[in-house]
Amino acid sequence: MTTATPALPTPIGIIGCGNIFPAYLKTLARCRRIRIVAIADANAELAASRAAEHGLTTLSIADLLASEAQIILNLTPPQAHHAVGMQVLNAGKHFFTEKPLAATFEQGQELVKLARAKGLRVGCAPDTFLGAAGQTLRALVDGGTVGQIRHGTAQFMNHGPDHWHPNPAFFYQPGGGPLHDVGVYYLTHLVNHFGPVAKLRSTSHVTHTERRVPFGPREGEVLPVGVPTHVVTQLDFASGPQIVLTSSFDVWAHTHTPMELYGDDGTLLGADPNQFGGTVKHNRQTGAFERAAGGRPYATNSRGIGLIDMALAIQEDRPHRCSAEMALHVLEVMDRALDAGRTGRSVTLKTRCERPAPLTSKLF
Ligand SMILES: NC(=O)c1ccc[n+]([C@@H]2O[C@H](COP(=O)([O-])OP(=O)(O)OC[C@H]3O[C@@H](n4cnc5c(N)ncnc54)[C@H](O)[C@@H]3O)[C@@H](O)[C@H]2O)c1
Repeated sequence: MTTATPALPTPIGIIGCGNIFPAYLKTLARCRRIRIVAIADANAELAASRAAEHGLTTLSIADLLASEAQIILNLTPPQAHHAVGMQVLNAGKHFFTEKPLAATFEQGQELVKLARAKGLRVGCAPDTFLGAAGQTLRALVDGGTVGQIRHGTAQFMNHGPDHWHPNPAFFYQPGGGPLHDVGVYYLTHLVNHFGPVAKLRSTSHVTHTERRVPFGPREGEVLPVGVPTHVVTQLDFASGPQIVLTSSFDVWAHTHTPMELYGDDGTLLGADPNQFGGTVKHNRQTGAFERAAGGRPYATNSRGIGLIDMALAIQEDRPHRCSAEMALHVLEVMDRALDAGRTGRSVTLKTRCERPAPLTSKLF
């Protein structure tokens, strides 16, 4: 009897060692089917201190791009995603990036076009839809638990990243804002459940033209606001459901459920799409809400499983779930939602994507 030789661990490089870096490292360190070759950052001092802390090697960006790494994970701010991605793809490496795919749809299109021309893969966060709560909700949708879903709401509202991020300026520039920064999780979950959006309408507001940093090393600094901070979007999915998504950095507190999906026979209540776990509930008609069965993998912070899925997909010659097509479609939806808010007109989307395969068991 012959047994297949397991693929060697995929060598991975990381560019960007800021705030989100430790969360990724925690997940990546658990997977033996990948290995981290080296890390790099425009701030070489920061890269060196992260490398020392985690027992990793640091390289210049040029040396990392010339290294044996097959995939580069990009953890830079959205405004740098396009430039870093073009460099990575031109160096012949697969590219997995934090969200959004790029600061604009046009930049995202360029990245995907270059990847296709070079036969390389592009993957993109968020990967939270692979978590236990997102997959539970997907199974309830696919299983017809509440019949055909017709309508719904998705609500992301808080008072912005000023209260927790040490350097919040980029969140208030194109590529940031509540829709591209956090609404992207809600949209990606919805596309995972229902497939692509066909048409949308929006209203949007730049509620305050500047924000004052309330704490930390930048306390008192005034940040210009270059993006709408309250956006309400009516999403018409090609498969039928019509969902209202609210994305806001202007709300101190609220009591809405993150996601409610209304079907012919009942209602589904989803968990926070920015998390991997959480409670999912469903009811039938006038009955009480019941908690959906648990037990699925990835119920705690697992940022990085989208990258691992892409590395394993390359090893196994199958499509990866956090696909370039889905990320580009979500980016088009977000950009066009801001246009629609400006013009008051409805917009028909140009891109389409397949729903990713459900995740029914652990990846590794
Ligand atoms: N911070 C979070 O909790 C969080 C959560 C989810 C997703 N994200 C996403 O992760 C990405 C990074 O966010 P962050 O909070 O870690 O930002 P950050 O500002 O803390 O860190 C970004 C790092 O990238 C480096 N950098 C910037 N431009 C570069 C370039 N051109 N080449 C090389 N290095 C460069 C900076 O020096 C910095 O160290 C963003 O896309 C963000 O949307 C962040």
